[in-house]
Amino acid sequence: MKKIFILLSMALVLPVMSCKENTPASDAVSGAYENPVVEAIMERRSVRKYQDRPVERDLLMRIAECGINAPNAMNAQQWEVRIVDNKEWIQGMSDLQLSMMDPQMVAQMKSDPSFRNAFRNGTALFVVAVKPSPMTFIDAGLMGENIMLAAHSFGLGTCCLGSSARFLNTPEAAEWLKALQFSEGYEVQYIIAVGYPDERPQAKPRNKEVIRFI
Ligand SMILES: Cc1cc2nc3c(=O)[nH]c(=O)nc-3n(C[C@H](O)[C@H](O)[C@H](O)COP(=O)(O)O)c2cc1C
Repeated sequence: MKKIFILLSMALVLPVMSCKENTPASDAVSGAYENPVVEAIMERRSVRKYQDRPVERDLLMRIAECGINAPNAMNAQQWEVRIVDNKEWIQGMSDLQLSMMDPQMVAQMKSDPSFRNAFRNGTALFVVAVKPSPMTFIDAGLMGENIMLAAHSFGLGTCCLGSSARFLNTPEAAEWLKALQFSEGYEVQYIIAVGYPDERPQAKPRNKEVIRFI
C-alpha cells in the first residue's frame, strides 16, 4: 500500500517538476518559481519610479546587513556602506549631478512627471565604497546583488547607479563625499537607489548564448 502511494506521488509530482524546468523563468508568472531565491533573482528589476513614502530605517539596516553577508575575498571585508536617507544630502547631491550632466538629458529626465532626483528618484541610497583592488571590486559587486535581492524580498525596488557614483567621485562633489565619512583610501563604486516601487518594469531580454557547457 505504502509503495503504491509513493509511486502515485512520484507520477503526480515528476511531470510538474520537469514542466517547471522547461518554463522560461522570465515568462513564468509570479509565484511559479522553484523557490523564493530563484523567484527573487528572476523578478528583481531596476526600478526608476518610486512612491513618495520613506523606507523604514530598520528595513534599510536589515538590507545592509544582507549586503555585508556577501562572500568576500578572505573575509577581509574591505568595504564600507553608507545608508543615506537625509533629504538635504540627496537633493543637494542630485542638484550638483544635474548641473554636471548633459542639459538635454536633464531636460528629458525632468519632463517625466514622476521625476524627483538624479538618483533615479530613489527615496534612500546605499553608497558602497571599497579599498580598491581586483578582489574588492568583486566583493563590492557581490554585496550589491545581496542588497538588491534583499530589498526586493521586502517589496522594495532598487536601481544600481554607476553614473551617480562617478559624479560623487569628482572634485566638485568633495564636500558631499566627505559628509559620508568613508575611511581613508576607500573609493565609492556604486550607489543603489531604493524605495517603495511605483512601477513594475518588464524583464529585459538576456542572451542565453553566453552560457556553454564544456
Ligand atoms: C554597475 C552598474 C551600473 C549601472 N548604472 C546605471 C545608471 O547609471 N543609471 C541607470 O539608470 N541604471 C544603471 N544600472 C542598471 C542597469 O541599467 C540594469 O541593471 C540593466 O539595464 C538590466 O536591467 P534590470 O536590472 O532591470 O534587469 C546599472 C547597473 C549596474 C550593474
